[in-house]
Amino acid sequence: MIELKNIEKSFGGNKILKGISTVFETGKTNLIIGQSGSGKTVLLKSLLGIHTPESGQICFDGRIYSELAPDEKRDLRTEIGMVFQGSALFDSMTVAENVGFPLRMFTKDNKAMIKERVDFVLERVALKDAHHKLPSEISGGMQKRVAIARAIVNRPKYLFCDEPNSGLDPNTSTLIDNLIKEITEEYDITTVINTHDMNSVMEIGDNILFLKNGLKAWQGTKEEIFITDNEAVVDFVYSSNLFRKVREAYLKE
Ligand SMILES: Nc1ncnc2c1ncn2[C@@H]1O[C@H](COP(=O)(O)OP(=O)(O)OP(=O)(O)O)[C@@H](O)[C@H]1O
Ligand SMILES: [Mg+2]
Repeated sequence: MIELKNIEKSFGGNKILKGISTVFETGKTNLIIGQSGSGKTVLLKSLLGIHTPESGQICFDGRIYSELAPDEKRDLRTEIGMVFQGSALFDSMTVAENVGFPLRMFTKDNKAMIKERVDFVLERVALKDAHHKLPSEISGGMQKRVAIARAIVNRPKYLFCDEPNSGLDPNTSTLIDNLIKEITEEYDITTVINTHDMNSVMEIGDNILFLKNGLKAWQGTKEEIFITDNEAVVDFVYSSNLFRKVREAYLKE
């Protein structure tokens, strides 16, 4: 479980996060949604320790990040898997080398152990024949699977994904969303996903945090988001006609 208390983050006097408090639950896919520029990536990077909030607390299962010693911060960092926007694979490394990279960096595992674990996670993301391919030789959906395999290879307790299905077609997006949800439940990971994709909200929104102008405007589940009267949520979700119709049908039942 990750608990945020009153997180504030500014850049050059411009306050982007204006006091965010929330809880991201273990074994759940926690989604952060909101318009472009609402601060989703800044919040995720604050969880990662890339940005340092000027006030507030981030607590990882009882460990308050800002109060940890440098080596404790380093240890905590190895418990986090990250899927960056656009996959961010190393172009010159094969799929297997990409996936094994965190083990070579952060563990003392020998070659045989690394190979066994890489084989296991590639099989888990349904990519067992791609070991020797370069990222440029596989599709965007496969690249996402490689990025997910790399993010989970070191058995993370926390998994952060920034727009994991941007640039993918709807079917592939759904496959990737469901893969992340299955992995989250299977390994009891605290997963936080940034998205503006309403399909993702419908598929895997266990717990949804809606950001607006740097504030938490609403929080709830995928069942609740379609019936809430919160004006900001209704504006955001139903900017698409399709979803407005779905809502009307829902409310009629
Ligand atoms: N390193 C930075 N320095 C200055 N301003 C920044 C920095 N990072 C983000 N910002 C500003 O913070 C605001 C929120 O950005 P952020 O990237 O978190 O938005 P987002 O919700 O992830 O948007 P998108 O959906 O487009 O990815 C933007 O106005 C952005 O310009
Ligand atoms: Mg972003």
